[in-house]
Amino acid sequence: MRWINSGPNRAAVDALQIAPGDNVLELGFGPGRAIELIAARVVDGCVYGIDQSDIMLRQALIRNRRAIGRGRVILQRATFERLPFPDASIDKILAVNVIYFWRDIILIFHEIRRVLRPGGRIVIYSTDASTMRGWKFAAKETHRLYDAQALRDIFLTGGFPADEISIGEISFAGGMVGLLAIAENQRLRDGQRPRHTAKSCIGQCRSAHVEVIRQ
Ligand SMILES: C[S@@+](CC[C@H](N)C(=O)[O-])C[C@H]1O[C@@H](n2cnc3c(N)ncnc32)[C@H](O)[C@@H]1O
Repeated sequence: MRWINSGPNRAAVDALQIAPGDNVLELGFGPGRAIELIAARVVDGCVYGIDQSDIMLRQALIRNRRAIGRGRVILQRATFERLPFPDASIDKILAVNVIYFWRDIILIFHEIRRVLRPGGRIVIYSTDASTMRGWKFAAKETHRLYDAQALRDIFLTGGFPADEISIGEISFAGGMVGLLAIAENQRLRDGQRPRHTAKSCIGQCRSAHVEVIRQ
């Protein structure tokens, strides 16, 4: 299974175009490999991750223990439907191989747009439906499959402006075809102000990591 995730993780993290001071959130970090890649690029900001699974949380905590110890990475158990972050507090959001499990698209995208600062970027990776139909574990009872049009459609349903969405196709070894969706949250109109700024999260970064270590 590792090969299914490692190429997509690298491509998706590259597409985030992380700046050293960014606050970055990964949705569904699994064993925490992308968190490791992101933490290597974030110097002054903070790396956050949520996953609903205790087993995944434990694995990701072990894999990222050094960066957690430095106070740069916060991993917690939470769900896509309720993101435990203030409004406009995150610069970049990553979601790799998790969109198959999204049921309440409107609610999840509402949460994404709430925590993403205006002008912030989200990158979602999905293996293309044409490849996934050949994988026995990706049954339709558990996985919702996407081609490029379906992926674009859920961004539109989720409230991202059409001209801010780009969908690219990537080919991996073994004939696996992947889709990389990149979108920007709408910028503020003149005179509008965000309720929180991305930098206001840094204080929480230092204190919250203590709770994670104590678990
Ligand atoms: C296929 S794994 C992908 C892991 C990682 N992104 C990667 O590519 O290596 C999907 C992850 O999403 C998590 N997940 C599924 N549904 C979730 C939900 N509703 N809220 C939070 N995490 C969820 C699972 O626990 C699992 O770790």
